[in-house]
Amino acid sequence: MTTDVRLGIDEPPPETLAIGVGPSGPVLDGVPTPVLPISVRSLVEEFVAESEPSTKPGDVRELPLPGELPARVLLAGLGSSAPTDLRLAGAEIARTAGGDVAVAIAARDDELAALAEGLVLGGYRFDARPRERPLARAWLVCCDDAAAVDWGVAYGRGAAWARELANTRAPTKTPMWVARTAAETLTPLGVRVSTRDAYWLAEQSFGGTLAVGRSSVSPPCLVEARWRPRGAAAHLVVVGKGITFDTGGYNLKPGASMKTMYTDVAGGAAALGALHVVAALRVPVRLTVLVPLAENAVSGSAMRPGDVIRHFGGRTTEILNTDAEGRLVLADALAYAVTRLRPDAVVDIATLTGGIKVALGLDTAGLYTPSDELAAALSRAGDDTGEPLWRMPLNDDYAELLSSDIADANNSSGQPQAGTAAMFLRPFAGDIPWAHLDIAGPARASSDRGLVTRGATGFGARLLARWIEAHAVG
Ligand code: BES
Ligand code: MN
Ligand code: ZN
Repeated sequence: MTTDVRLGIDEPPPETLAIGVGPSGPVLDGVPTPVLPISVRSLVEEFVAESEPSTKPGDVRELPLPGELPARVLLAGLGSSAPTDLRLAGAEIARTAGGDVAVAIAARDDELAALAEGLVLGGYRFDARPRERPLARAWLVCCDDAAAVDWGVAYGRGAAWARELANTRAPTKTPMWVARTAAETLTPLGVRVSTRDAYWLAEQSFGGTLAVGRSSVSPPCLVEARWRPRGAAAHLVVVGKGITFDTGGYNLKPGASMKTMYTDVAGGAAALGALHVVAALRVPVRLTVLVPLAENAVSGSAMRPGDVIRHFGGRTTEILNTDAEGRLVLADALAYAVTRLRPDAVVDIATLTGGIKVALGLDTAGLYTPSDELAAALSRAGDDTGEPLWRMPLNDDYAELLSSDIADANNSSGQPQAGTAAMFLRPFAGDIPWAHLDIAGPARASSDRGLVTRGATGFGARLLARWIEAHAVG
């Protein structure tokens, strides 16, 4: 379930009222009396006169008013009211309020969109945690721009859905379950979702996806989801890593690093989340999302170190480490995208290497691309949405590390992990402008803070949607 954000108030006001605090104090003008009774208004004014509440974005302070209605008043700092600040304020209001909240903040267009987006992002709770209360409804009582609210809500919902997919545990989340859920969720928005099963993958020689997937009793598959609006200027493809659980395979992960590997589908989830945003907003850009889905398990039928596999399109890979499985499934899908779909650009997104966490930490994703233009466009989208990217070098000197005497490349070339993984993927993109996002760091968060909730963060869904939306003009 995701937060419902409405304009105005059409029923008895909820228990909680959040009042924005801008540079010139709290926003009380235009708040209707049923939401802010006169007696409460004077208490708020008194409090503000005495104690100067914080205007820092994300600061939310509760003003207890025993016996009065509303029962709780929150004062929320708005910073400069820039979208970044309002997104953060919205998320913190959602987190503090829970349940239902009326929000009194005067905001226009992109400010209002950011506030609505923040409310949905901060209000998200994983469905399977029944003790935690999501923000069910938020009423915005000082504003009236419905289109802006819809825009922000669409971004929040796409990310929330990506979180839900990635947070879902492995016994439920088989490759086919992800495909079915994607079809059920996206088809009503006008997206055409095809699920290619293991037989199709075999017929098409998706050797990487099959090599990973044959370890599991839950067979692999490929989701191909197409958004085809009229009059689209560009065709973009996003490929997302869809490993539903990563044990490492025979190169087994130690317990501590394995236990969160149900979120190894986060790249695929972000790609689907971006498509959710794009279709909900009916963005006039043609978009195809490919998610190769497989479980990397241990079994008698699993791939072994030393195996040689053949990807879609014919390139071969020598397996040196069964835990470097993400690149194997991405390689097939990238090659397929490039030869069959001939898009204007292709971006892949994946929780690909632990190495990128060492390099960039947990808030920033690694961006690898030979194209300055793509780098600039993606970085801008990341800055706009608060999902930061940092460009990393694609160093030709590493090509040697990828060599194999039995195949075109090996799948585990040592250090640097993230850079050599990117170099492994590069040839599969052929002549199409390509970028690779390694989101192993920011795909998960350990606590509810800022725009994210603990567990899967949905990182990438909003930045990709923004990047795609930018192709709608010109
Ligand atoms: N899914 C992991 C990467 C990962 C690590 C994601 C930590 C999120 C948090 C990936 O499949 C993997 O196992 N990568 C290996 C690559 C190595 C074998 C070259 C790694 O990071 O150790
Ligand atoms: Mn792995
Ligand atoms: Zn993995």
